[in-house]
Amino acid sequence: MEHYFTNNNNLKSNLRSIEYKVQNTSFVFYTDNGVFSKSSVDYGTDLLIQSYLENGKKTGKVLDVGCGYGVIGIVINKINKQKVDQIDVNKRAIHLTEMNNKTNKTKSKTFISDIYENVVDKYDVIITNPPIRAGKKVYMRILTEAERHLTQNGELWFVVRKDQGAKTIEKELQKKYKIDLIKRQRGYHIYKVDFALTN
Ligand SMILES: C[S@@+](CC[C@H](N)C(=O)[O-])C[C@H]1O[C@@H](n2cnc3c(N)ncnc32)[C@H](O)[C@@H]1O
Repeated sequence: MEHYFTNNNNLKSNLRSIEYKVQNTSFVFYTDNGVFSKSSVDYGTDLLIQSYLENGKKTGKVLDVGCGYGVIGIVINKINKQKVDQIDVNKRAIHLTEMNNKTNKTKSKTFISDIYENVVDKYDVIITNPPIRAGKKVYMRILTEAERHLTQNGELWFVVRKDQGAKTIEKELQKKYKIDLIKRQRGYHIYKVDFALTN
């Protein structure tokens, strides 16, 4: 079975564009077969973006992990003018993110990375709609190893659905870190983790 996170160069391309509007700003995103949520921006992604724009840092450098076709980082760069890097394990996702930065007149450093393996900088914010389907080992590494790539007062923002184990993930992170449930809507939970503060 083909998952959106696999690197399959043989997967037939079907480039299309979708529209997305947030805070009165319109975006166009090119999407394709083999990337997450290709027909419209995912509900959880949209909720994460809106929650971050309302409650997150307005300055500082942001890392968009598992960027897909780039929506989260591109919106943050456009609206908050924050400097953004975007990573994904999937080559097609990286290619689309580069196209989408050009299309939306935004800028990011975009590169392939399996989890954080090619990440060298430190960030004030790491934000992700993590790849639950890639398995617990992968998504828990994305969440917990964020600590090593954040500045001292850096924050991790993420979205996860209740039926994908939101409560279990919350409890696991709570053992060590301060985690806040920022918003809960239609089964989607938005969390912020402050690694500098322990429970
Ligand atoms: C749920 S999707 C989110 C995509 C995009 N951020 C969005 O919200 O539309 C998760 C993304 O994580 C990527 N991913 C999966 N495994 C990964 C890994 N080991 N390292 C980095 N990214 C990974 C997938 O390719 C996918 O684009």
